[in-house]
Parts: sequence; C-alpha cells; structure tokens
Amino acid sequence: MKLCAVYYSRSGSTKRIAESFADSIGAKLFKLEDEKPGKSMFTALLGLGSLLKEPLPDVGGFEFVVLLTPIFAWHPSPQMNKFVNKADLKGKSVFLVGVGAGETNEKALKRFSAKAEKAGANVVGTKNFKGLQMKQDLKEVESNLIESGKQLAGIIERLVQ
Ligand SMILES: Cc1cc2nc3c(=O)[nH]c(=O)nc-3n(C[C@H](O)[C@H](O)[C@H](O)COP(=O)(O)O)c2cc1C
Repeated sequence: MKLCAVYYSRSGSTKRIAESFADSIGAKLFKLEDEKPGKSMFTALLGLGSLLKEPLPDVGGFEFVVLLTPIFAWHPSPQMNKFVNKADLKGKSVFLVGVGAGETNEKALKRFSAKAEKAGANVVGTKNFKGLQMKQDLKEVESNLIESGKQLAGIIERLVQ
C-alpha cells in the first residue's frame, strides 16, 4: 500500500517523531510550513490569515496517510486543520497522531478525527505521543521522540498488512 506522512511542527518534537517514523517504515514525508514563520503563537492558535505555504503537499497518489500534529489548547494545530480542509483525503485510510505535553489528548484526537472524517477520510486509528513540556529542551527528550516514531512505525506496519 502506498504510504506517506504529513506533519506540522513548531518547536521540533513532532518533526522528530515524524522523521523517525518515516525512516523506520520507509514512508514519503511531507511537512506543512507556515507562510510567515515569524507569526506569534496567538495568531497561529486563532488560525488567522493564510497560514500555510503553498503548494500544499499532494497526497493524491497515496492510499494510506499518517497525519502528525502538535496539540495546542486541546485542538490539533490550525495548520493541520487547514491542510485537512484542503487536502483530498476522500477514500484514503488515515491514521492521526497528536503530540502534546499531556499523556492523552482524547478530546483533541476526537476533534481531529471528526475533521478528517468530514473531509472524506477513513480514519483507521489515532495515537497520542508525549512531546515537549513547558520549558523543556528538545535535546532532553530527543531519544524518547525517536522511540515514539519507531513505535508508530510498528503500529502502522500492522495496519497496512
Ligand atoms: C500555546 C500552547 C498550547 C498547548 N496546548 C496543549 C494542550 O492542550 N495539550 C497538550 O497535551 N499539550 C499542549 N501544548 C504542548 C505542545 O503540544 C507540545 O509542546 C508539543 O510537543 C509541541 O509540538 P512541536 O514541538 O512539534 O511544535 C501546548 C503548547 C503551547 C505552546
């Protein structure tokens, strides 16, 4: 099955998980980029303005898509929401990953699932991974993030078989 992953990351933890996942499983990896990277967190959280650099990743040729996003204020990032609204996910198997400071992010993952399903995706699973805590440095948790990416690869391998 043709597999790809799309991620957004602000402070780098989701990026580390996504890269470790893609390396482990051999998936094509796309990143979502802010059109204006200097934007404040406040503006980004409210989803104001044109958030993403165009063209957006084209997932048209893939049957299985893994989406990875940080959780901000109990929601998937506005950047990922925007991608889900615009991308053609119809009929694709989609696995959703939230990365947050918390152990679980049930509400955020429910919201994420609802959005993806509304876009026509067949949501085959969700998973929350621990990212960065407040004031934590990426280096402190880097090995955990790489491990999370490998764990995700194991989960996805079983699903695509
Ligand atoms: C403004 C703000 C709001 C956040 N809200 C949540 C939240 O609701 N739940 C959670 O688990 N983590 C929350 N976090 C923590 C981030 O999701 C966490 O640091 C994540 O690893 C960031 O991903 P990134 O390094 O890929 O940008 C928040 C962080 C910020 C800066």
